[in-house]
Amino acid sequence: MDPRAIISRSKFLTAATVGLGGLIGVAVAVPVLGFTLGPSFTAEDWYWTSFGAADDPKFVQGDYVSVVFERGENGSLDRRVAYVRRDGAAEFTVISNVCMHLGCPVQFKTTNFACPCHGGQYDTEGIRTAGPPVRPLNRFEYKVEGGNLYVGRPFATQAIDGKVVMTDTFKLPGAPVGGLLGWLYPTPS
Ligand code: FES
Repeated sequence: MDPRAIISRSKFLTAATVGLGGLIGVAVAVPVLGFTLGPSFTAEDWYWTSFGAADDPKFVQGDYVSVVFERGENGSLDRRVAYVRRDGAAEFTVISNVCMHLGCPVQFKTTNFACPCHGGQYDTEGIRTAGPPVRPLNRFEYKVEGGNLYVGRPFATQAIDGKVVMTDTFKLPGAPVGGLLGWLYPTPS
């Protein structure tokens, strides 16, 4: 056999292996990059919902009012409830009514949020005080623009030194935030 043929075949196999490996790498990397970076480049304005004039007297200083609203994308509507408390002229606390145990709707009762399903209790900031919920109630981001109050996406919260801190991720009921368990529970898209 011509030794040049052996070398040639060897080089060909090496090149083919490297090339195939490169193609597989691209095939895996492109979708991952798309899912990771894609949301950064898409318009996300659809989620801002107007709650009306920010100076509307229905928003009471230091007390909660519940607001039912619908929001949806591509024709699918989703009904939600937020508890809104005025903290200042343009400052609000906007808390989700979804219990952080299994998702039942909590209700505000003068001094606390109470869940009717399994006895979950939260204080006026939404921090769990009793029962099985794993973390404080989610909070919605908000903005005041053109005199109107707009409510955006809900985010998971953590209680740190007795204060509620909003995270930058959304977590479903039952999913812990922070620590090793926070990594193990996925963040839904
Ligand atoms: S769903 Fe609220 S305590 Fe279980």
